[in-house]
Amino acid sequence: MSAILIDGKTVSAAVNAETARKCAELTQKYGCRPGLAVVLVGDDPASQVYVASKVKKCAEVGIESEKIVLPPTASQKEVLEVIDRLNGDSRIHGILVQSPPPPQIDEEKIILAIDPRKDVDCFHPFNAGKMLQGDMTGFLPCTPWGVMKLLEYYKISLAGKKAVVLGRSNIVGKPMMCMLSCKGVDATVTLCHSRTANLEEELKRADLIVAAIGKPEFVRGSMVKEGAVVIDVGINRIPDATRPKGYRLTGDVAFDEVAPKASVITPVPGGVGPMTIAMLMRNTLRGMERMMNR
Ligand code: GUN
Repeated sequence: MSAILIDGKTVSAAVNAETARKCAELTQKYGCRPGLAVVLVGDDPASQVYVASKVKKCAEVGIESEKIVLPPTASQKEVLEVIDRLNGDSRIHGILVQSPPPPQIDEEKIILAIDPRKDVDCFHPFNAGKMLQGDMTGFLPCTPWGVMKLLEYYKISLAGKKAVVLGRSNIVGKPMMCMLSCKGVDATVTLCHSRTANLEEELKRADLIVAAIGKPEFVRGSMVKEGAVVIDVGINRIPDATRPKGYRLTGDVAFDEVAPKASVITPVPGGVGPMTIAMLMRNTLRGMERMMNR
């Protein structure tokens, strides 16, 4: 079988084009643009790249962005002061603090300090809880939502299908489980993780695998059923002296082994990656719409 390759660049471009249109409508209606604040604490190179991409995408779709960079030595109090200021700023409809912060910062306290009405990551327990209860109309976690958009775009029906989510993070695995099993999507979901017994057998039963464990090329060809749909959320940097940057990006799936068995597969990069930012833009619009309709 030769797999259909999911093109995240094309799908995200379609989502972003619609976002730009909706953004122009909101701006016209309310006389101000949606606003997103992106907070970066520290100087992690990967986080710097992600934050720059988010700010750039805002400009492309017509969202006002404010980037706040705090030094690696910033205290918890300093970060909380920034959050308080942004919570009170009526031009800001979404607040994102890039993860992971430096070790002196308690991320949970930061998440709790963000006004749930501006929580575009959907990390706050209020929003995560709403989603768990089946409300898909509010903020949704960007990466799992991006995966759902990809599946929808490629008309992959999941009703009654067996899905295996690999990884139990709050950012991807747990919300992914929730979205795949919600009413209307109707997959039967198994959440696997590092302590799962007989992981290979679990994976082999799956009609859909979503890999989000952060281990390069963990899912091998032998672990995948013929015809499975394979979505790779992993972005791992592997040292590679032949590349100009000294590393290459690889997912959590051994693409060359798995692609010949899969019916549909995402590449890394160019699969799920571009969708995360596209859905962040969507959440920012939702933030503004909700704030204006209160
Ligand atoms: N770091 C990696 N992914 C994300 C994300 O979706 N949101 C935030 N805030 N930080 C991240």
